[in-house]
Amino acid sequence: MYSEKVMDHFTNPRNVGEIENADGVGQVGNPKCGDIMKMYLKIENNVIVDAKFKTFGCGAAVATSSMATELVKGKTVEEALKITNQAVAEALDGLPPIKMHCSNLAEEAIKAAIDDYRAKNGLLDENAEKNACGRRCDDIHHMHEEE
Ligand code: FES
Repeated sequence: MYSEKVMDHFTNPRNVGEIENADGVGQVGNPKCGDIMKMYLKIENNVIVDAKFKTFGCGAAVATSSMATELVKGKTVEEALKITNQAVAEALDGLPPIKMHCSNLAEEAIKAAIDDYRAKNGLLDENAEKNACGRRCDDIHHMHEEE
């Protein structure tokens, strides 16, 4: 049912943990199952130099978080924003259709962490919040942390 890559990233997830003094932190939850993903980004000169995550969720959520942190490293903020949940799932050689919703967390956590980075640095344009929520507002409930 699961690809070898999914099993690998589930049993041996990359980049688990927190980044102290992260430049952007995003937390999102999946109301369908209650699973939560938190992503930490270190950003220098507009490039994501490090990423870590903590996920309280199913195996597919852990595997997609792990792959998402691998995918964003070395990318510019703009490139990272273009990473879709499909791209994360494809990088894992696919997910079973009923687990695709789990990969939404990865895409949304990247966007939430970048939103946080932009807000902290005065880079948030007036459309950013709308763009970040976008079409999946029904599925994903953003849980921005209280500062
Ligand atoms: Fe909740 Fe997979 S079942 S994210």
